[in-house]
Amino acid sequence: MLVSAKEMLNKARDGKYAVGQFNINNLEWTKSVLDVAEELRSPVILGVSEGAGKYMTGFKTVVGMVNGMLEEMNITVPVALHLDHGTFEGAQKCIRAGFSSIMFDGSHYPIAENIEKTKILVNTCDVLGISIEAEVGSIGGEEDGVVGMGECADPKECKAIADLGVTMLAAGIGNIHGKYPANWPGLSFETLEAVKKEVGDMPLVLHGGTGIPADMIKKAISLGVAKINVNTECQLSFADATRKYIEAGKDQQGKGFDPRKLLAPGAEAIKATVKEKMELFGSVGKA
Ligand code: 13P
Repeated sequence: MLVSAKEMLNKARDGKYAVGQFNINNLEWTKSVLDVAEELRSPVILGVSEGAGKYMTGFKTVVGMVNGMLEEMNITVPVALHLDHGTFEGAQKCIRAGFSSIMFDGSHYPIAENIEKTKILVNTCDVLGISIEAEVGSIGGEEDGVVGMGECADPKECKAIADLGVTMLAAGIGNIHGKYPANWPGLSFETLEAVKKEVGDMPLVLHGGTGIPADMIKKAISLGVAKINVNTECQLSFADATRKYIEAGKDQQGKGFDPRKLLAPGAEAIKATVKEKMELFGSVGKA
């Protein structure tokens, strides 16, 4: 059964480790992440962007697929199904479809509007026992080939959002989605410490988990980060393994048209990435 992310994140914060959010794109991806979580006895969060939800034909399909897998694969570790960077409308759709956790990303709105919209969703989530993530200070990333540097959140604005009763807070600390550019100055621990001081016990979320050096990850966890999002690294390992398999001509051997064989190396590569991240984040054996 899907669970809210609240308990797993509070435990992670207290135990000084982080739960990984791995974004899913298809059945193989989801199966790989669940397989590793169960094998390593780690709690896990499955992230779904609105684009990925659309690709998989809609949020209801995702909920059906994940719930089916939890049962058929005999998954016993805590699993949350979480909307990643949701719009206000997308968040409401996910709540109706049966997600156990949502993120409302109102970071591009003026703070008053971010507060107003987040508050409405907090009220709904409270009633239903769904966890909710909010964002302050937008996370940079590549758009149309241009890499935008991540913003640093205003700690006072973080407090205003945290006080609404969200479950977890994503504060921009110079982190970026996708690959980090060579001139990236690194995470702003100064901002992280200032945010932590304002929001107290609130579990913090680190987006852009791909490519952050291990020592920075560990330091961020020691300063209150309890959830780390990983997407691009799984995409890269999936694509790389699939490409190598095709280039080696292996898809031409035997039944070259078998989609299950074609997608197997990518699925294995995702497993290796998820395993490495769970070990780094310290969530192994914490289920
Ligand atoms: P990366 O793609 O950089 O791993 O970031 C993922 C993320 O933060 C999703 O919200």
